[in-house]
Amino acid sequence: MSEQQRPQDETNAPVFRPRKNGQAQTVSDELAAWMATGWADTERRDLEPVEQAAHTARRRAAISAAFPGDRLVVPAGQLLTRSNDTEYPFRAATNYAYLTGDTSDGGCLVFTPDAGGGHEVVLYLKPRSNRDNGEFWLGGYGELWTGRRNSLSEAADLLGVATADVTTLDGALRSDHGVTTRIVRGHDAALDALVDELRADADEESRAKSAQLDEELSVTLADHRLVKDEWEITQLQLAVDATVRGFEDVARALPQAKDTSERYVEGTFFLRARVEGNDVGYGTIAASGANATTLHWTRNDGPVREGDLLLLDAGVETTTLYTADVTRTMPVSGTFTDVQRRVYDLVYAAQEAGIAAVAPGRPFMAFHEASQRVLAEGLIAWGLLEGPLERVLELGLQRRYTLHGTGHMLGMDVHDCAVSRQEAHLYGDLEPGMVLTVEPGLYFQPDDLTVPEELRGIGVRIEDDVLVTEDGSRVMSAALPRSSAEVEAWLAERLPR
Ligand code: GLY
Ligand code: MN
Ligand code: MN
Repeated sequence: MSEQQRPQDETNAPVFRPRKNGQAQTVSDELAAWMATGWADTERRDLEPVEQAAHTARRRAAISAAFPGDRLVVPAGQLLTRSNDTEYPFRAATNYAYLTGDTSDGGCLVFTPDAGGGHEVVLYLKPRSNRDNGEFWLGGYGELWTGRRNSLSEAADLLGVATADVTTLDGALRSDHGVTTRIVRGHDAALDALVDELRADADEESRAKSAQLDEELSVTLADHRLVKDEWEITQLQLAVDATVRGFEDVARALPQAKDTSERYVEGTFFLRARVEGNDVGYGTIAASGANATTLHWTRNDGPVREGDLLLLDAGVETTTLYTADVTRTMPVSGTFTDVQRRVYDLVYAAQEAGIAAVAPGRPFMAFHEASQRVLAEGLIAWGLLEGPLERVLELGLQRRYTLHGTGHMLGMDVHDCAVSRQEAHLYGDLEPGMVLTVEPGLYFQPDDLTVPEELRGIGVRIEDDVLVTEDGSRVMSAALPRSSAEVEAWLAERLPR
C-alpha cells in the first residue's frame, strides 16, 4: 500500500517523496479540491482529563521547583526508520510520558521561566492534519494514513496542560537566547542540535558545562521517579497481572512450542502484551535448554525440547507505559529432573533470602548481598567454588555462575531510574513506593569445564516484582508459582494431558 503522489506545483502543495512501491501519480486539481471539502467537524468539546492528569501536574510542579530560572526541554522522540519507508512502533520517551501522560510521537514539553519565579509550561504537539493543502491524505504521515490525532484543544483538555503547534517550537526556542536551557538529550536529534546551536558553546569547557546541565535534568527526573505514587503502583500491578496471564498462555502453548520453536513462546506472550497493553516492555527472552545460559537471549529461534528447562523473561507494558519484568524457569515436560531441581531450588532459596531483605530503611544493596550469599554457599557446598565463603564473596568468584546483579528498579523503564544519583539509589536505602525486581540466577555454560557435565547447559532465573511497603514488601507477581513444587503443580493444571 502506498499513497498517491502529488507533484509540486505553484500552489501550496507540499513535496511528497515517492515511496518504494509507490506509483507517482498526478492528482488532478479537481480531485485535490474535492478532497479538501465535504468533511464533518469532528472536534470533541467536552473531554474530561485523563486519570493521570492530576499526577502529571504535580510532577511538573516538582520539576519546575527544582530548576528555577532555567528553560527545560523534554522531547517525546521521533519515529525511527526500520527500513526504507517503514518505521519501528513508536514508544514515547519515559520522562516525556511521565510529565505529560501523552504517548504520541514528535511532541515536546517546554518549561519557560516566568517573571514570578516559576515556569510557563507548554506541550508542543503535532496538530490535526491540514486538509486544505492535502497533507491529511498525501505523503504517508497524514491522519488519513496514520489515524486521527487529538486536536491541540482536545489534547489540552485531556492532559490538563497548555498546548501549541509543534511547528512553532523552533521559533519559540530561538526567541529567547539568554536563558539557560536544559534538554533531556538523546530522544530527538533535531532538538538536541537546536539547543546546541542556541548555546553556541565555543570551547571544550563550555561544552562540558552544557553537558552537565542536561545530565542534571535527567538525573533529577530519575530521582523523582524512584518512588512511585499510588496511581503508578496501580499501573504496575496491571502490568504484572497481564504478565501473569501471558505466562499462563505460554504454559498452555508448550505443546505447540515443542512443534515449532522458542518463537512460539515469544509470539504467545506478545499476543497477550498487545491485547492487554501497549507492547512488551523489553525484548522477550524465550530461552530453552542451553540458550537459558545466554542472559539476553532474544533471538528465540531455538527448539523447545522435552526434558529442557524453558526460561521465560517477559513483561507486559501497559498503555500508560509501565512494565512488569518477570522470569520463570519451567520444565517443558512438566517435571524437573533431579539435577534441574537441585539448581532450581538453590536459586529459589537465594530469591527467598533476597525478598526477605526488601523493606523500608534497608540498604538497596541488601537484597543483592543476601541472594549472592546463598548462591555462593550453595556453590561451595557443591564443590564448584573453594571456600571460605567470605573470600568468595569478597572476590566475587560466584559471579562466574551468577553473572548479573540480583535486581533493579522497575517502573516505566524496565531498568528504571538507572541514571539516578547513586546515594539515592544504589547506595541509598529503600523507601515505601519503590518497586524493584529480585532475580537471582545460576547459569552453567555448555562449554564450562569447571562444572560437572550434568550441570552444563542449565540456566535458571526466578524474577519477581516487589513493592516496598510501609512495613515490609509485597510481591506483586505472587500469582505465579515460585518453588519447584509450585511450578510443577501449576504446569500440571495447564499442560494438556
Ligand atoms: N529482562 C531484563 C532483566 O531482567 O533485567
Ligand atoms: Mn529484571
Ligand atoms: Mn527480566
